Amino acid sequence: MKLTDAFADLPERLLDWYDQHARDLPWRIGPAARARGVKPDPYRVWLAEIMLQQTTVTHASKYYQNFTGRWPTVEALAAARDEDVMAAWAGLGYYARARNLLKCARRVAADGQFPETAKSLQELPGIGPYTSGAIAALAFGARAAAVDGNVERVFARLCALKRPMKDEKPFIRRTVQGLVPGDRPAEFAEALMDLGATICTPKRPNCLICPLTDMCAARAEGDPEIYPIKAAKTAKPTRAGHVYLLVHGSDILLERRPETGLLGGMLALPGSDWTESPPAPGAGAPAPAEWSPIGIVTHVFTHFALTLQVAQAEISGPRPEGLWTAIDAVDGLPSVFKKAFKLLQSAGPAA
Ligand code: ADE
Repeated sequence: MKLTDAFADLPERLLDWYDQHARDLPWRIGPAARARGVKPDPYRVWLAEIMLQQTTVTHASKYYQNFTGRWPTVEALAAARDEDVMAAWAGLGYYARARNLLKCARRVAADGQFPETAKSLQELPGIGPYTSGAIAALAFGARAAAVDGNVERVFARLCALKRPMKDEKPFIRRTVQGLVPGDRPAEFAEALMDLGATICTPKRPNCLICPLTDMCAARAEGDPEIYPIKAAKTAKPTRAGHVYLLVHGSDILLERRPETGLLGGMLALPGSDWTESPPAPGAGAPAPAEWSPIGIVTHVFTHFALTLQVAQAEISGPRPEGLWTAIDAVDGLPSVFKKAFKLLQSAGPAA
């Protein structure tokens, strides 16, 4: 017996459940409208999928509404200024996504349309195996699998997979691909996302209301939460640095990060390098001044945890060259710098 035989009626059961319980999401057409023949806008599908890489549905929703309001078409986004898009992305994290978003929009606008297969979508910037599968299925009705961490968890449980996820991924991918129904691939992808997000959750899955409960091997074993089997965790490396709030009148000094690397192309506060052992006090200061320490911020990136010492100084008279910005107009700082900026203390009464 092939494994997919054990799941022969999985697609139908999942889709029946989805027809009743689909989440209403801003980028989603919904099963009833799809059944009436409403067609998705590939631009919106693509934009949502890029935002949802690494970002929760709740957080991404606000950004999605803002982007589609400001740039309603791929042509509008392609014509936007880089700084405006980077600033609108601020707070979503993983800023390479925003740079690739613009590159991709410009390619698609020049070509006149999005390509329609998972394989050709993957040739565009910022689109990997998951996103290409999701866009092909959701926007173009291709029989493509969209397998992300949520879907992997669902299948790790359905099959009670015993090896760490990295070893099970190819099997899961093949299994899901084999189950995608030819007539409703988009809803199948959305249904799996919803099952993973609302029922087969990482902690305390709600097996009592799961439409697949009687075909779930982990449920039969009794403790589905142990799946997927976790690889041993290694501690995150730490880094430390300084950032500076340099004030001149009602302005503060900002800078733009180099195009490549972490937070590439984003607005920033001036500061030191971020190093394993803390840099010397005053390292990376943008000007000689009487620096007052005003606090510490921490921020966890994918590959390290950062601690920044924040110092503030006020200068008058001539000021160093730079991106001086009115304090009450500061916008578009990534979260780590926003945390530091929030510590800015209003200057005391003039002497
Ligand atoms: N996660 C990734 N893509 C998604 C989508 N289109 N809807 C909900 N969650 C998602």
